[in-house]
Amino acid sequence: MVAGATPLPRPGRLGTREARARALARFAHHELQAVELFAYALLRWPEVPKGLSLDWYAVLLDEQRHAALYLERIEALGFRFEAFAPHSDYLWKHLPAIEASEDGPSAFLAAMGLTLEQANLDFSALYRDAFAEAGDSESAAVCALVHREEIGHVRMAARWLRELRPEPDDRGRYEASVPFPLSAARAKGRRFEAAARRAAGLSDDFIEHVRRARSSQETGRSGSS
Ligand SMILES: [Fe+2]
Ligand SMILES: [Fe+2]
Repeated sequence: MVAGATPLPRPGRLGTREARARALARFAHHELQAVELFAYALLRWPEVPKGLSLDWYAVLLDEQRHAALYLERIEALGFRFEAFAPHSDYLWKHLPAIEASEDGPSAFLAAMGLTLEQANLDFSALYRDAFAEAGDSESAAVCALVHREEIGHVRMAARWLRELRPEPDDRGRYEASVPFPLSAARAKGRRFEAAARRAAGLSDDFIEHVRRARSSQETGRSGSS
């Protein structure tokens, strides 16, 4: 893994098999990192409620399946995942911020479930439609399945944060838990899927908060990164 990454093919640029395989390799690697990070969480915080450990394990199995489905699609297109190395440390790079938090399990739920996986609700839907428009219905079907199951992962994170945190609402719990430099501005993609967030049980107030969130660069606020 390396810092940064080659650009992900844009949704309108999936006309070639190579571009589609390159996008799928990116997604497969995100899923692999998700597998690793849920395994990390299980080993790092064995003291969390048993139900949370079991939910993390169930999500880990989903992420393994997602990775396998993307890998199958890459091979069906005539490519190998290895051909697209090196891969970005996109998910792993947030671990130091999670580790620095005083409340590790809540920071993990806010970072993984309510920021990175919440953002994936938008990316998976965007690329589902883009693969379909490119005539690749099989890859579109994988993105559609991932999108549906990520709704469950976001729901799980929000539900456990309600158990673990004292704040009275989703937005307050999220803001108290999310480790800098992650923030609500990172919890979304280019096309905002409000319905998927409602299906995950997020409050309307939190959904609007994420929809309106601007990154520190956009607001001109200075901050280190
Ligand atoms: Fe996944
Ligand atoms: Fe997930």
